[in-house]
Amino acid sequence: MATGDALRHKRIPLMHGTGAMPAVGFGTLIPDPIVTMQATKTALEVGFRHFDCAERYRNEAAVGDAMQAALKTGTVRREDLFVTTKLWNTNHRPERVKPAFDASLRRLQLGYVDCYLIHTPFAFRPGDEQDPRDQHGRVIYDPGVTLIETWCALERLVDDGRCRSIGLSDVTLEKLQEIVWAGRIKPAVVQVESHPYLPEWELLDFCREHGIVLLAFAAVGHGMSPRVLDDPVITSIAQRVHKTPSQVALAWAVQRGTAFLTTSTSPNHIQENFEISTLPEVAMQEIREGITTKVRLNTVVETGVPGFIPRA
Ligand SMILES: NC(=O)c1ccc[n+]([C@@H]2O[C@H](COP(=O)([O-])OP(=O)(O)OC[C@H]3O[C@@H](n4cnc5c(N)ncnc54)[C@H](OP(=O)(O)O)[C@@H]3O)[C@@H](O)[C@H]2O)c1
Repeated sequence: MATGDALRHKRIPLMHGTGAMPAVGFGTLIPDPIVTMQATKTALEVGFRHFDCAERYRNEAAVGDAMQAALKTGTVRREDLFVTTKLWNTNHRPERVKPAFDASLRRLQLGYVDCYLIHTPFAFRPGDEQDPRDQHGRVIYDPGVTLIETWCALERLVDDGRCRSIGLSDVTLEKLQEIVWAGRIKPAVVQVESHPYLPEWELLDFCREHGIVLLAFAAVGHGMSPRVLDDPVITSIAQRVHKTPSQVALAWAVQRGTAFLTTSTSPNHIQENFEISTLPEVAMQEIREGITTKVRLNTVVETGVPGFIPRA
């Protein structure tokens, strides 16, 4: 194994925002708030400095508590952390954006966030019900607002100074292009599902060309079938380099130029996911050329309905 320690500390400077995003990120999509707090504390202890949150996860306060505890002991400084949170689909109307953002900041107990994302490009009926449905169980969308109108409201948050960058999540290349061409402030970050079974090379090329960070979620395949971590190409590389399959998938993500998010409630997995090391170039090629399984695990990109979050 080549020298690896630098890889886990890599930070990617934002071209359309302030600061730099640690490539190694911890996702907080964890249903139980006590478990969320414990997992976030463990992640901070093992070295994660990048945390991904969302109002939709309904646990920003628990993540905030864990971060505050670390900040109070002085083991971590606010400027070392990179915290993202996301605007939910029911808050796309411009007049709802600032109140939603302020509420997230309050729950996170922070004076600013490093990045604020539009969680999905789909607007749902505005209101307190996060998952509005008609009597047939179909999502009620909101035809009264466009993505660019919501984007302009996010731009105003950057102007106000408590949001250091803005971006999009669960977008196709076409939707991203719309905002890149029309926005006054370009997206700093695009968060999408990506792993060796969904490499999104075309999207990554576009992001590179336009100075946008591609932030990969489900980076170890969300524990779903077909299992990225059982793929024979991944497992054979892991054996050869004396790392785990998860560490191989995550090192690949960073070395090809993305940042990643992974989530675990197991302290061992949390530590393992931080302790990545550089893969030899031949292994990078093997993953790119030798893996033929291609699958999208989360259909959120098609409907705005989050595949990995249980309905209320
Ligand atoms: N923008 C969006 O719409 C969107 C959608 C989904 C997710 N996200 C974000 O991305 C984050 C990560 O997503 P994800 O949950 O799909 O990540 P993931 O890390 O690919 O999947 C998590 C699953 O993998 C398992 N796992 C984690 N590390 C492992 C390891 N080292 N070995 C074996 N199994 C391991 C976990 O189980 P254990 O707990 O047992 O370790 C858990 O079941 C979320 O928390 C959220 O912040 C965003």
